[in-house]
Amino acid sequence: LDEKIWLTLSFGIIMIFMLITGYQTFALSMGPPSNKEIIDPQKVDQTAPFNQPGMKKIGENEYEVVMTLQAFGFAPSKIEVPVGATVHFVLTSKDVVHGFQIAGTNANAMVMPGHIQRITQTFDTRGSFLVLCNEYCGGGHQFMSTTITVL
Ligand code: CUA
Repeated sequence: LDEKIWLTLSFGIIMIFMLITGYQTFALSMGPPSNKEIIDPQKVDQTAPFNQPGMKKIGENEYEVVMTLQAFGFAPSKIEVPVGATVHFVLTSKDVVHGFQIAGTNANAMVMPGHIQRITQTFDTRGSFLVLCNEYCGGGHQFMSTTITVL
């Protein structure tokens, strides 16, 4: 009888985990970068919008930053926005899996080669925000950082 109880409990716990994962994936849309936005990681430089990385104004204090990540760095490497700006980041990797974390905010995303990752952050306080790669990506990992300056 004991064995049956433990088996039932273990199975129940697994089912609960699977339900939570399913809920996060489908109801909350959490998960890896969308499979609908696939690009050729060998041809990032020729693929729009990544053929022109950089920042552009798309609304009242609203900006879009198209950024590529690769070992050793982020391009563009220097970003300056006015205080209160909402920034829509459009990210991809040119080589391996990288991370995109803006220290001191909730912005944290995985950036995979062949996928487009989108993340939005509003900067309500002035200052310098450290951007880090938080996925171990090889020999240049410790050099992968940049800053976002909020003026
Ligand atoms: Cu890129 Cu670690």
